[in-house]
Amino acid sequence: MSQPALRVRGLHKEFGRFVALDSVDLTVDEGEIRAIIGPNGAGKTTLINVLGGQIVADRGSVEVAGRRLNRQHPHQVAKLGVGRTYQISSTLRRMTVFDNMLCAHNAVSGKWFSLSAGRLRKMEDAVLADLKAIELDGLADQVVDDISHGDRKRLEFGMVLATRPKVLLLDEPTAGMGLRERHELIDLVLAVTRERGLTLVFVEHDIDVVFKAAETITVMALGGVFAEGKPEEIAANSAVQDIYLGGTG
Ligand SMILES: Nc1ncnc2c1ncn2[C@@H]1O[C@H](COP(=O)(O)OP(=O)(O)O)[C@@H](O)[C@H]1O
Ligand SMILES: [Mg+2]
Repeated sequence: MSQPALRVRGLHKEFGRFVALDSVDLTVDEGEIRAIIGPNGAGKTTLINVLGGQIVADRGSVEVAGRRLNRQHPHQVAKLGVGRTYQISSTLRRMTVFDNMLCAHNAVSGKWFSLSAGRLRKMEDAVLADLKAIELDGLADQVVDDISHGDRKRLEFGMVLATRPKVLLLDEPTAGMGLRERHELIDLVLAVTRERGLTLVFVEHDIDVVFKAAETITVMALGGVFAEGKPEEIAANSAVQDIYLGGTG
């Protein structure tokens, strides 16, 4: 039996006196597709930030495929195979789609410092293949500022793929997108995740997208794990319905 892709125990994080993460336990198996949902302010992004190494928890532990994270910097976490996207769009807007992908590819390849013409060509081939996988090859030479919001969200997904992660952490990958393109993006994410044998953890507001995509759902509220289960279990959980109907999310 292989190690879980992610194992989180007793994760705790306070900002001043505000408890953003309250003893969070979470185990995600290799190859699993996990959604994290919950009202605004529940701690979802903070959890992703700890998993990605962007912030350090006050207490608790994170293991990636059995290896304990110990205050690693984000680039070291990326080298362990964890890739993430941001809730707020994070692309280089004056560069082309292709160049953004190349930057992401380079960030963890370690090849930038020995850049022969042959190696550069290989990188460009890899980027082109990734662009095809995310169906953005037609926009390769467009400046990011000129493409649609939906295509930028798609590019962000491509950029995390370019870092060759084993575990994908997507923070609201479909935020701000129209209904149809939201479903198109999540279908693409699912297809690539399965094809490449990745583990997917995604934070998502659109409950239809969540129920369509997730194998397991973790519901967060007030910094803690409020409920966890298969989509049908979560759908039947009246306490979960209450925090949604009565909550702010
Ligand atoms: N760097 C920070 N400093 C202070 N408070 C923060 C910081 N990051 C998040 N918070 C607070 O922690 C709570 C949880 O935020 P967040 O994890 O972004 O929630 P979610 O993604 O579930 O909406 C929020 O109330 C937010 O204001
Ligand atoms: Mg958030």
